Amino acid sequence: MGDWPGLFITFEGIDGSGKSTQSRLLADALKSAGHDVIRTREPGGAPGAEEIRRLLVEGSPDRWSPETEMLLFTAARRDHWEKTIQPALNAGKIVVCDRFADSTRVYQGATRGDLRAIVDALHALMIGVEPDLTLVIDMDPEAALTRGLARHSGEDRFEEFGAGFQTALREGFLALAELNADRCRLIDGGRDEASVAADVLANTQAYLT
Ligand code: ADP
Ligand code: TYD
Repeated sequence: MGDWPGLFITFEGIDGSGKSTQSRLLADALKSAGHDVIRTREPGGAPGAEEIRRLLVEGSPDRWSPETEMLLFTAARRDHWEKTIQPALNAGKIVVCDRFADSTRVYQGATRGDLRAIVDALHALMIGVEPDLTLVIDMDPEAALTRGLARHSGEDRFEEFGAGFQTALREGFLALAELNADRCRLIDGGRDEASVAADVLANTQAYLT
């Protein structure tokens, strides 16, 4: 467990896998059970980090090199950590966060330019913390892509890399969950919302006091 009185839970997985739906349902369930919870997301989660988010998720897929992208995600994460996550954990709250450093490891590291070692080094230098619990939502990329693009959010820069990219990402998340089995739990996201939510909550129980 991390060096803080609170509990740091992250959701990871490919685009459209149901992370934001499930992070909302988990945060609501924990609040109903009387816990002090904040829900946040990356990239973003603090005013400065949200400004960086717009640079990252809008525009053409080749707008940034993998190296520049990695630096922007890390800059956003540092701001998010300083301004939002760390203060909440120090105040004893449960932080439910949609994506964190594992997304950079998988998106920028594993599939774009083989930057994984640099991603890990940069994380160690600038962030240096891991979540207490990471819920990795796994599902078929074609089905997830259909869900995601149906939203037409204007933030589809990563979705527009296409289905092959999403398949590589899925493999990346599965490998990461296996390597970090101490903190990662794999959740089958291809079921109805309520079934996934029940599984998520069951996997969270052991961490609650
Ligand atoms: P993510 O945050 O991983 O991109 P979302 O939670 O935004 O995923 O879900 C993507 C889309 O799929 C949304 O329109 C959402 O309402 C829908 N969705 C989420 N979970 C499910 C589910 N279990 N079954 C069907 N549709 C879902
Ligand atoms: P997000 O808003 O979570 O998108 P979605 O709801 O579609 O899953 O994240 C925006 C995009 O940024 C998403 O395609 C994943 C990507 N991303 C990275 O490439 N690296 C990162 O470190 C993070 C946090 C996100």
